[in-house]
Amino acid sequence: MKIQAKASKNFQQKTDCLVVALKPLKKISSQCAELNAATGGAIARLQDSGQFGAARGELVNLMVPQGVAAKQIVLLGVGDAKSLDTESVRDILNAVARKLKVLKVNEATFDLSALNAKSNIETVSRHLTEALGDTEYQYIKAPKSAHSIKANKEFKVTLWCQDRKALSDAKKAANIGSAISNGKTLAKNLANMPGNVCTPTYLASQAKKLGKSHGLKVKVLNEKDMSELGMGSLLSVSKGSREPAKLIVMEYKGAKNSKDAPHALVGKGLTFDAGGISLKPAGKMDEMKYDMCGAASVFGAILAAAEMQLPINVVAIIPSSENLPDGIANKPGDVVTSMSGQTIEILNTDAEGRLILCDALTYTKRFKPETVIDIATLTGAVIVALGHQTAGVMGNDQGVIDDLIAAGDTSLDHAWQLPIKETYKKQLKSDYADLANIGTPGAGTITAACFLSYFTEDFRWAHLDIAGTAWGGASGKRASGRAVPILTQYLMDRCK
Ligand code: BES
Ligand code: MN
Ligand code: ZN
Repeated sequence: MKIQAKASKNFQQKTDCLVVALKPLKKISSQCAELNAATGGAIARLQDSGQFGAARGELVNLMVPQGVAAKQIVLLGVGDAKSLDTESVRDILNAVARKLKVLKVNEATFDLSALNAKSNIETVSRHLTEALGDTEYQYIKAPKSAHSIKANKEFKVTLWCQDRKALSDAKKAANIGSAISNGKTLAKNLANMPGNVCTPTYLASQAKKLGKSHGLKVKVLNEKDMSELGMGSLLSVSKGSREPAKLIVMEYKGAKNSKDAPHALVGKGLTFDAGGISLKPAGKMDEMKYDMCGAASVFGAILAAAEMQLPINVVAIIPSSENLPDGIANKPGDVVTSMSGQTIEILNTDAEGRLILCDALTYTKRFKPETVIDIATLTGAVIVALGHQTAGVMGNDQGVIDDLIAAGDTSLDHAWQLPIKETYKKQLKSDYADLANIGTPGAGTITAACFLSYFTEDFRWAHLDIAGTAWGGASGKRASGRAVPILTQYLMDRCK
């Protein structure tokens, strides 16, 4: 993806496709008088004949137009200016990106000033870059390495800007969009891979690879290391699997002072969740290969941070395991001891995410983090509450929660807060251990977060439940690349 910003319009410049955004005025052509004149009044004729009214998302293309050097022109309707919020700008840009893919266009020039009117050139440039990255993305079957997979095609973009200030803003925003897009691509590649390829060992090897290419310090703890640390909860999940569990640690040091407290991102890396002895039903069980999307988005966010050379320190911690039924697998009623010393009664082996995260969170303490965010496809209940549109956020520090929600709004990767309260925490009482791993029926997303809250008392923490947003919904049975945008934005905002 190459982006070039230009301060002057030139209809005689060669381009495969000229995309022009237009508002639904009485005389649409008045916004692009020059272009209308050059094309011998084509835009006015399209309006007069009722073929283009510039309604929101309306797309019309003119092949081999006269009077311009572009091979084709795509007219893009912006619709009613009053309701043109950032969200609709993004939707419009996604629609254009899809259209260009259908037209098999790899190089285009954009005149999107009609879109900047309400939002700004930064928003347009950033989300155009992200939209093109999303549509360019194609999963390559049977790849050897998620990290070396690049977007298939190099898309070349020229974006016309009003002046030099806009030009420099557009370039900066495109760099942000491109870093986020590359982070999403990495996350999607890892997540879309089948569970027999993307194992904990594979994730660890990809972390090492990312460490080499982007100067990260990487450490991988094996089961023996974890056992010495007393991670009885994490290891109990991987007992039923032949694939050894890993705890992956990646450190990015961008701050002037390498000793500055890092922001910790802890991502659930369950490479396949069959539920264990509390076996899941067969329907859609294949989708549980996505149960490592928290880990994948941590990979993506740390890649984006490194690409932008953000001046902060970040530590990524990824507990990774499978959850399978077996003769020696966890059983309902088993009691395990976590690294924190708290004992846990496993009432449902399918509530395994919290069992691996709790030990990873306890481990995070040694980095003396400024803030800790954990990201996990933790509960099906979050889909009931918020659908595939919005992630659930909970935590022990309202400041961190607010910052995360704000980052979601800026990056259009939204999150919404659910309450953690004593009344929910009480649901985790156990007769046989300090805690049970599930609550009484109801509020499953909240009780899962409540469980984690018992392991995060020593730092400022927020938890993102991305079980609804990481795949599915509009993206179908495909990884969406979320929560890379919200996490990357959260890190960017911490640099100010
Ligand atoms: N990985 C699942 C959560 C999940 C389910 C994500 C469906 C996306 C779609 C998690 O490990 C799980 O199984 N959670 C259980 C918890 C329950 C046993 C308390 C769930 O949500 O059903
Ligand atoms: Mn589960
Ligand atoms: Zn799971």
